Amino acid sequence: MRRGVGIPVTAEGGFRRLEAMERAVGDGGVDFVALARPLVREPDLPNRLRDGRSTASTCVNCNLCSAWTIMRYQPLRCHAAGAGA
Ligand SMILES: Cc1cc2nc3c(=O)[nH]c(=O)nc-3n(C[C@H](O)[C@H](O)[C@H](O)COP(=O)(O)O)c2cc1C
Ligand code: SF4
Repeated sequence: MRRGVGIPVTAEGGFRRLEAMERAVGDGGVDFVALARPLVREPDLPNRLRDGRSTASTCVNCNLCSAWTIMRYQPLRCHAAGAGA
């Protein structure tokens, strides 16, 4: 697909471990990986992955962030245990 479209291709959805992100842009053949919920919980995660201070997101995929925002019109933030840690 990447060869066919001739523009950068991004993979997204479910990336939590640095190892998987690195594999996607290596063997996986994509140009970027995108993160959504991991950045809701830990906005500084990319810096910590880059600096070696983390190897994975602590997002547990509970979707409470989406639920509170979409159904209750609350500002977007992580509502799971340990948020902001
Ligand atoms: C709060 C929230 C809002 C989102 N809004 C959109 C949207 O408007 N359009 C869309 O295509 N995806 C939307 N998504 C989906 C994300 O772009 C992404 O595909 C999904 O969260 C899976 O990636 P992740 O595992 O990194 O979170 C939203 C996700 C979240 C958590
Ligand atoms: S509320 Fe759940 S899905 Fe959303 S960022 Fe926090 S842990 Fe991840």
